[in-house]
Amino acid sequence: MRSAQEIHAEIMRLTEEYHAAAHGPKPFEPGKTKVPYAGRVYGPEDVKQGVDSMLLFWLTSGPYGNKFEAALKAYFGSAAALMVNSGSSANLLMVATLCSKQVKNRLEPGDEVITPAVTFPTTLAPLIQHGLVPVFVDCKPGEYDLDATQLEGAIGPRTRAIFAPHTVGIPCDMDVVMDVAKRRNLIVLEDGCDALGGQWDGKLIGTFGAMSSISFYPAHHITMGEGGMVIVNQLALKRTALSIRDWGRDCWCEPGVSDTCGMRFGWKLGELPQGYDHKYIYSNIGYNLKVTDMQAAIGCAQFEKLPAFIAARRENAAYYLRELAPWQDHVVLPTVPAKANPSWFCFPITLKSHVRRNAFVQWLEDAKIETRLVFGGNILKQPGYKDIPHRVHGSLDGTDTIMNQTLFIGVYPGLTPAMRQHVVERIGAFFKTQL
Ligand SMILES: Cc1ncc(COP(=O)(O)O)c(C=O)c1O
Repeated sequence: MRSAQEIHAEIMRLTEEYHAAAHGPKPFEPGKTKVPYAGRVYGPEDVKQGVDSMLLFWLTSGPYGNKFEAALKAYFGSAAALMVNSGSSANLLMVATLCSKQVKNRLEPGDEVITPAVTFPTTLAPLIQHGLVPVFVDCKPGEYDLDATQLEGAIGPRTRAIFAPHTVGIPCDMDVVMDVAKRRNLIVLEDGCDALGGQWDGKLIGTFGAMSSISFYPAHHITMGEGGMVIVNQLALKRTALSIRDWGRDCWCEPGVSDTCGMRFGWKLGELPQGYDHKYIYSNIGYNLKVTDMQAAIGCAQFEKLPAFIAARRENAAYYLRELAPWQDHVVLPTVPAKANPSWFCFPITLKSHVRRNAFVQWLEDAKIETRLVFGGNILKQPGYKDIPHRVHGSLDGTDTIMNQTLFIGVYPGLTPAMRQHVVERIGAFFKTQL
């Protein structure tokens, strides 16, 4: 009988062969083949690592999970990196952590958090779910982030935090965000789901706030199918975040491990009897937001490719900025602040008021070019959000323009030169022949 090692090597060889046969490049026919706005980009290494994790059959987060968390912690130079099952869960975990009784000066129901009105819904949802009151500020078409000049004026007596997403990958003005936060004693959370690897003034997005989130959904920079990460920049928050991720328990043992603290039956917490099993002591009202080792295995393989993926995204965005420049009578192209080095999620386009977005979108979709809108647009206009307790600071004119006139196309690394050329040619044809 062959050894497990020999069979493993054979399976890896076959997986590589299978990948070449089943997942090889497909021909592109302009107008017939879809130009995706995003998608998984993977090679035999990713599939092999996924298969390896199945053969290992650890299932719950284990060797690959630890490796992935360690890699992200080192990348960000953070106090911790906690893997969770989505970017939305990462946002939820950050907010829940700030509301925990374990956290000094925790956020309390009724406290206010400043955030942009153009947002992905699950940046906002955890605030509402925790009884916090969002204070909406406007967003600028072109940049798509919160208008940092509005922050100071938006602060009221109960304002405690700023939740700043780096929407579509263009970094928010972190000079202003951090300055206002410091002077007015506000906590900063960053939603970095769209911006992995982006920089503000040479410093990585996600390293400014107390915590930041990442998404590994296939549309994002690297993927593990479903997944996310909380980057914890303040050590004091690490244990609480870990607890809330893992059912709210006090114990910090890894899955399948016991007695990491060396006193599993030695704790006296709450009103529980002395020596109550630490595994079942709950110091927080938590969730289970954990991830499997199979997902983490793919995350590890994808992480190796992150620099190349970011470079490809930048290259594609630069191409569109250059090639679409002649159409600026009709469109607002993305505007990148001088200190920002985006790791682009997509390429946003805001159509000037004389261009009908529905017609433009339909034109592109008919040419098999996928489009998306900038998430929820003005979130207050969404059916699920219309009655939420909130405050608005100033006008939301920019927000409404984004809701009405903005769309995005892809810059993901799977885009080929032929696809990009087709996109530019179709956009040009729209402005030449359809307007
Ligand atoms: C800014 C932002 N935050 C959060 C999320 C949620 O991430 P996930 O889909 O992994 O839950 C997304 C998703 O695209 C996003 O764009």
